[in-house]
Amino acid sequence: MSTSHENPEATAEGSKPCVAVVFGGRSSEHSISLITARSVLRAIDRERWDVVSVGISTDGAWFLCSQEELEALLDEHPMAQLPVGTHRVSLPLQTGDSRLLIHDTAENGAPLSRGRHVDAVFPLLHGPFGEDGTLQGLLELADLPYVGCGVAASAIGMDKHFMKLAFEAAGLEVGPYTVVHDRTWRTDPQGVRERVAELGFPVFVKPARAGSSFGITRVDDPSQLDAAIASAREHDLKLVVEAEIEGREIECAVLGGHGTDEARASLPGEIEVHGHALYDFEAKYVENDGATLSCPARLPEEVIDTLRREAVRAFHAVDGEGLSRCDFFVTHDERVVINEINTMPGFTPISMYPRMWAASGIEYSALIDELITLALERPVGLR
Ligand SMILES: Nc1ncnc2c1ncn2[C@@H]1O[C@H](COP(=O)(O)OP(=O)(O)O)[C@@H](O)[C@H]1O
Ligand SMILES: [Mg+2]
Repeated sequence: MSTSHENPEATAEGSKPCVAVVFGGRSSEHSISLITARSVLRAIDRERWDVVSVGISTDGAWFLCSQEELEALLDEHPMAQLPVGTHRVSLPLQTGDSRLLIHDTAENGAPLSRGRHVDAVFPLLHGPFGEDGTLQGLLELADLPYVGCGVAASAIGMDKHFMKLAFEAAGLEVGPYTVVHDRTWRTDPQGVRERVAELGFPVFVKPARAGSSFGITRVDDPSQLDAAIASAREHDLKLVVEAEIEGREIECAVLGGHGTDEARASLPGEIEVHGHALYDFEAKYVENDGATLSCPARLPEEVIDTLRREAVRAFHAVDGEGLSRCDFFVTHDERVVINEINTMPGFTPISMYPRMWAASGIEYSALIDELITLALERPVGLR
């Protein structure tokens, strides 16, 4: 790919802080990440930030990808995948060197590489190899500040097993579930079927580490269980099986606090799913009328207060930083049961996280400023 609008040799020294917006990636949520990145690149305040945009291909190659290139790609196909660009990017890993290295080939075939100073990285990646602590670990090694949760929080937030352990330890209400490890399924499938039956049908079979509902099946009858397990295992060999929670799906956005300030929780929003057994990929991204997102959710004041409190508690339970979206079920008797935390939630202006902040007084582009500012305020080092 060419880089029409970006001059890779420019440095931000003495001028605006430079933010590297990183998107794409190896997970099945690659295309969703591109859509997120397009929105952020459109809205980010260029008076305030210098921006360098970096794409990661589905096989993990890093390269420069301008906003124009991304727009053109998504105009052509709404669920596009990034073709590998010509200006490859890498990170020097020694401390004190906050550059991206941009590798090129001169006309005579000689390798060229140039540095581009960056002050912070904004990883707009969803799912494994982006939202799960792996990318965060790389940025720690590179000594670069970044937006959002650190290594452990990202890894725990990606894993539906460990996040439940953290939530339970923090006193949050978690629904009944059981964990199925690869070895257990392969050596004692009958034992697994019995454990699942104890939860009572319907159950939800989920890959422990996936996202966007990939690999999740609602199982109404024991005869469908093995097929659901096979389908979840295509995404992750570790599974979580949960009893169904009957209730409304309510989400709450959390934003880290500045300095010693407490993290902030937005007004909650509600997801109402139409014509689907669950809030699945189609309802999330494909069908316009697959789900209704309303914000603020219509709930009694005291339930709203509980949700906001529990959302901040869930954020701290995983050692959250920067941002997270906490997803709950509110049962008919108004119990608040946590479903999951997402450390890099959907982030287009029509996604729930930005909408909940808009309803709570922080508009999209101000939210982006806020997240980058939080990243810059935080010291690099053990997190
Ligand atoms: N235990 C459950 N009870 C009822 N519905 C559930 C349960 N678990 C998941 N769902 C439904 O499936 C959707 C996706 O599950 P979720 O755990 O949020 O996966 P993802 O991380 O892919 O978003 C939820 O938004 C909800 O509609
Ligand atoms: Mg979810």
